[in-house]
Amino acid sequence: MLFLFFLVLLASGLPADEIFRVDWQTVQIGRPFASVFKDGRIYSLTDQNIYSVLNSSTGEVLYRYQSDAPVKHDSLLAPAWNGLVACGFNHEATSRLVFWTKDGLIEHELDLGSLAGLHNVRDETLLAVQKDGSVLQIDKDYGQSTIAHVGPVQASKLAFFADQLVLVSKSSAGTAYKIFDGQEGSLGCQFEDILVTDEGIVCNKDIYKLESGKLQKYKNSPVAAVAGRTARVVNSQYLVTADENIQIYDLDDPSRLIESHALNSPADMIEADTVDGWVAVFVVSGDDLLLFVGGELVWARDESLAEISDILITDRHEELSVSLGDFEHEKHWSGYIDRVKHNLHLLFKEQHTDTDKHFGFNKTIVVLTRNGNLYGYDSYGHLEWSIKEHGFSRIFKLDNQAYAANEKVYAVQDGKLLETDVNEEQQVLYPPNLDGSYRLLTTAARGYNNTEVASPAVVLASRRVLYKYLNPQTSVGVFYNEDAALLKFVVYNKATNQTYASFEHSTKNPESLKLVFEENFIVFTTSEKNAETSLLGVIELYESLTPDQRSKVPEHQVRTYFLPSQVAAMTVTRTKYNIASKWLIVALRSGEIVAIPRTLANARRPFAVSKKEPEEMLMKYQPVLPVNPKLTLSHYRKLMATSKLVSVPTELESTTLVVGAGTDLFATLVRPSSSFDSMRGDFSKSTLLATIAVLVASILVVRPFVSQKQLKDAWQTRS
Ligand SMILES: *[C@@H]1O[C@H](CO)[C@@H](O)[C@H](O)[C@H]1NC(C)=O
Ligand SMILES: *[C@@H]1O[C@H](CO)[C@@H](O)[C@H](O)[C@H]1NC(C)=O
Ligand SMILES: *[C@@H]1O[C@H](CO)[C@@H](O)[C@H](O)[C@H]1NC(C)=O
Ligand SMILES: *[C@@H]1O[C@H](CO)[C@@H](O)[C@H](O)[C@H]1NC(C)=O
Repeated sequence: MLFLFFLVLLASGLPADEIFRVDWQTVQIGRPFASVFKDGRIYSLTDQNIYSVLNSSTGEVLYRYQSDAPVKHDSLLAPAWNGLVACGFNHEATSRLVFWTKDGLIEHELDLGSLAGLHNVRDETLLAVQKDGSVLQIDKDYGQSTIAHVGPVQASKLAFFADQLVLVSKSSAGTAYKIFDGQEGSLGCQFEDILVTDEGIVCNKDIYKLESGKLQKYKNSPVAAVAGRTARVVNSQYLVTADENIQIYDLDDPSRLIESHALNSPADMIEADTVDGWVAVFVVSGDDLLLFVGGELVWARDESLAEISDILITDRHEELSVSLGDFEHEKHWSGYIDRVKHNLHLLFKEQHTDTDKHFGFNKTIVVLTRNGNLYGYDSYGHLEWSIKEHGFSRIFKLDNQAYAANEKVYAVQDGKLLETDVNEEQQVLYPPNLDGSYRLLTTAARGYNNTEVASPAVVLASRRVLYKYLNPQTSVGVFYNEDAALLKFVVYNKATNQTYASFEHSTKNPESLKLVFEENFIVFTTSEKNAETSLLGVIELYESLTPDQRSKVPEHQVRTYFLPSQVAAMTVTRTKYNIASKWLIVALRSGEIVAIPRTLANARRPFAVSKKEPEEMLMKYQPVLPVNPKLTLSHYRKLMATSKLVSVPTELESTTLVVGAGTDLFATLVRPSSSFDSMRGDFSKSTLLATIAVLVASILVVRPFVSQKQLKDAWQTRS
C-alpha cells in the first residue's frame, strides 16, 4: 500500500522532457521597405528598425539585428563585393554605412552624411549618393573619394552603358541625370516610373540610350509599354511587374508574358532573383511577405504579428487527473485506479504524449496586433486560428472568456466570433487630485481580494509577526510634475479617498515608468533616456512595522535598487493559490527576460546585519540587483521589443505560465519556489523500480525465516 501511495504522490509530477516544451518564441521581422534578393537569401530593412536575412527557400529568419536608433524609411540596401551587403542606415541625426557578411557579421562600418542612393558598380566599387549631392566612390579597401557633385538629391538610380555610368536622380525640381565625366540634364518623367535596363533608361514611352557621350531618345520602346511603378529587371533577362498580379516578361521580347500570378492586394515592393533557371519573386503586400517561384506560392509570412499591441490568456479548463470533485462524489476508487494506471503508464513508457494535459499548462494565448488582427496560440506555440480584417481595437477577458471589440463587442471562442452586448467593467479609480501642476500618469491596485492572499503576515525569526497591510481598496496613483521633473506616488484608499502615504522620485523620463501592485507591495522602475541602468523601487505596506501590532492605517518601508539595464516591461508571478514565492519578471531592453526573486527586491533588506540574531533570512542591502544568469528565463534567446509581460497560474501551485509580447511572442513555464509539487526532471524511475523490486524480493526471502522463527518460538514457549 505504501508503494501505491508513492505512485500517487508522483502523479502530479512533471517529467523532464516536458519542461522545455512550453518554452518557445516567434521570430518576426516587420514589414520590409528595402530588400535585396541574392543567392538564396533575402536581405531586408523593416519598419521595426530591423535588418534581417531570410532563407528564400523556406522564409526562415537566418539573422536579425535591431537598431537602437529608429531607422528612417529612406534607408538603403545594396549588394557589394565578395557577397557583402551594404546597408545605409539613415537615422534622424546621423547616417552610417554597414557592410554585412552573409552570415550576419559586420565587416566594416563608415559614418557618412544622409544617404539618397547606394549603387553597386560591377561588384568592384560602391557609389554612395548623399542627400547633399556629393557622390562618393567606396572601393574594396573602404577608401572613399568624391567623384561628382549634383544638386540636393532625394533618391537615385544608376544606369550602366558600355564604359560609362549615368546617375538618374530625384530632386525637388524633378528628375535629373548626370553622365559621369559628361553632361547633365533633366528627364521629363516621374522618377518612380523610370526603369533602368541594359538597353537604356526607360521613361514614359521612350528609352534613352547613351551614344557618343549624349543621351539619345528613342520613341515607343516595347519595354515601356509594360513597365510600371513596381517593375524590376531580373538578371538582365526578365521584367517583373506587380500590381494586383505578378507578371513576368522576357526582357528581349517584352510582349511575351512568361507567367502571371494573382495577388490578394496590390504589391508594395517586389524583388526577384533567378533560382535554378526559375524566376523567384519576393513580394511585400501589406503585412504579407510572399515568395513565388514559377508562379507558385512557396511560402508566406504574416508580419502583422511583428507589432503585438495586447495579449490575454484564457484557460482551457484542464484539471488535475483526479479532481477534488471525484473525491466529493465518492469516486475514490475509480479515481484512484485511474491515477495508478496513469502513473504506471508514466513509469514504464518513455514516450507519454498526454500527461501534460492535466496540469492546466495548455492555455489559449489571444494576440491582438496593431493592425487589428486576432491570433490564437496554444501554450506550445502552435498558431491555432486567426481572424483578420475586422480592425479590432482592444481585447479583454471576463470570467475566463476572451472578448474583442471594434465598434461592436464579440466573444472569441476557438477562432469564432459571437456578437454580444457584454462590456468591460471600467475599473474606475479616482485618484485624489493634487494641485494642477501634477498630471496623472497611471494608477494600479491589487487585482484580487484578501481571500486569495495565502500568507497575511511575515513571520520573523523571533516568532513574532509583521502583518501585511491588505485592505483591498488600497491603490497607488502616480503623478508627474514637468517643471520639477518629479514623480509622485500617492498610496490611497480608492473607496474613501483617504491618502495613506506619498513618495517622490525624480526622473526626466516619466514614460519609462513600469508599475505593479501585488499583495502589500508596489514595485516600480524608471530609466533615463540613453542610460545604461534603471532604478527599481520597492514600497511595502504593513499594518505596523512594530512586530505583533495591528492597525487600520499602513506603515511603509521603501528601498531602491539599480538594475544593470533598461526595463521594457515588468510583471509579478501569479500562482493558483499565491503560496509559491513571488518573482518579479522583467524584460530588459537588451532582449532578455529575467526573474528577480522578491527576497532580493525587498524593502526590508537591512543596511547592517547584526551577527547575534538575524531577524529573518534577508540579505544585507546592496544597491545593485545583479541579474543572475540562472534566472534568465529567455536563455540564449534575444527577444525584440517586448512591451508586455503576463503571468498566469496553472493547476500546479508551483508553476506559472509567463508570456511576453512585442515584436516576438515568448512563452515559458516558471517555478519560483522550484517544483515542490512536481517530479524533478532528473528523477530516477529505474532506481524507484529497483528499490521496489529489492524490497519485494527481500520480503519473499525473509518471510520463510520469520515464519520458521515464529514456529520455533511457539515450540520453545510450549516446552
Ligand atoms: C535554406 O533552407 C533550405 C531548406 O531547409 C536549406 O537546404 C538551405 O541550406 C538553407 N539556406 C541557407 C542559406 O541557410
Ligand atoms: C492544446 O490544446 C489544443 C486544443 O485543445 C490542442 O489542439 C493541442 O494539441 C494541445 N496541445 C498539446 C501539446 O497538448
Ligand atoms: C475621490 O476623489 C475624486 C477626485 O478628487 C472624486 O472624483 C471622487 O468622487 C472621490 N471619491 C470619494 C468616494 O469621495
Ligand atoms: C473575494 O473573492 C471571492 C472569490 O472570487 C468572492 O467569492 C468574494 O465575494 C470576494 N470578497 C469580497 C469581499 O469581494
